Amino acid sequence: MTLEEYILSHSDEEGELPAALNRDAHVNLLRPRMLSGHLQGRILKMFCRMLRPRRVLEIGTYTGYATLCMAEALEEGAMIHTLEINDEMEDFILKYVNRSPHKDKIQLHIGDAMKLIPLLDETFDMVFIDADKRLYPEYYDLVFPKLRRGGLILADNTLWDGKVLENIPASDKQTWGILSFNEKIKQDERIEKVILPLRDGLTMIWKK
Ligand SMILES: C[S@@+](CC[C@H](N)C(=O)[O-])C[C@H]1O[C@@H](n2cnc3c(N)ncnc32)[C@H](O)[C@@H]1O
Repeated sequence: MTLEEYILSHSDEEGELPAALNRDAHVNLLRPRMLSGHLQGRILKMFCRMLRPRRVLEIGTYTGYATLCMAEALEEGAMIHTLEINDEMEDFILKYVNRSPHKDKIQLHIGDAMKLIPLLDETFDMVFIDADKRLYPEYYDLVFPKLRRGGLILADNTLWDGKVLENIPASDKQTWGILSFNEKIKQDERIEKVILPLRDGLTMIWKK
């Protein structure tokens, strides 16, 4: 048994619907590794359980895996807005959202987060940044004024497969995006922050 198998077998189960989505994605989609998966899905759900956010924003839906996991823990009347630029994912996402008992808590927006975020008339308690790595600093600037004081931003992939420690060519725009985001977060005194070395790195950012 690997350590990962041990962790998963001593944590909550993945859940029937996320597991079905996960299998479907691995059989039918390109790049299924982009979805959060069992461990991170349960962690995101746990954050929602603990923080009891009324308004959640997810930037980068992909299959809706993390969306479903977070929605499981949202209370009555709470809502998650999730943004996805690739309209070809809409049918896949809705197939699973519509099977969820929590579907009324999920609002899918198809389009570019850079255009959609300014249009959202909400104050968020929790934000999950998980879209184009090149644009992390821009997503952060757009979303920060919409996050309430005491609210939490989670940013995924902030260790980017360890590339943050490597010599990166100028052409590797994704790694440069992550590096510049991490530097921006380090310098920002309006927040408290910590990088969890979970999976590909998950940064927790708390607004003072
Ligand atoms: C890593 S996947 C999201 C995984 C999902 N959050 C999860 O945890 O299961 C990133 C997604 O962001 C989408 N994306 C990239 N740039 C975007 C943008 N500017 N606006 C909205 N979505 C974007 C991609 O199409 C892709 O589906």
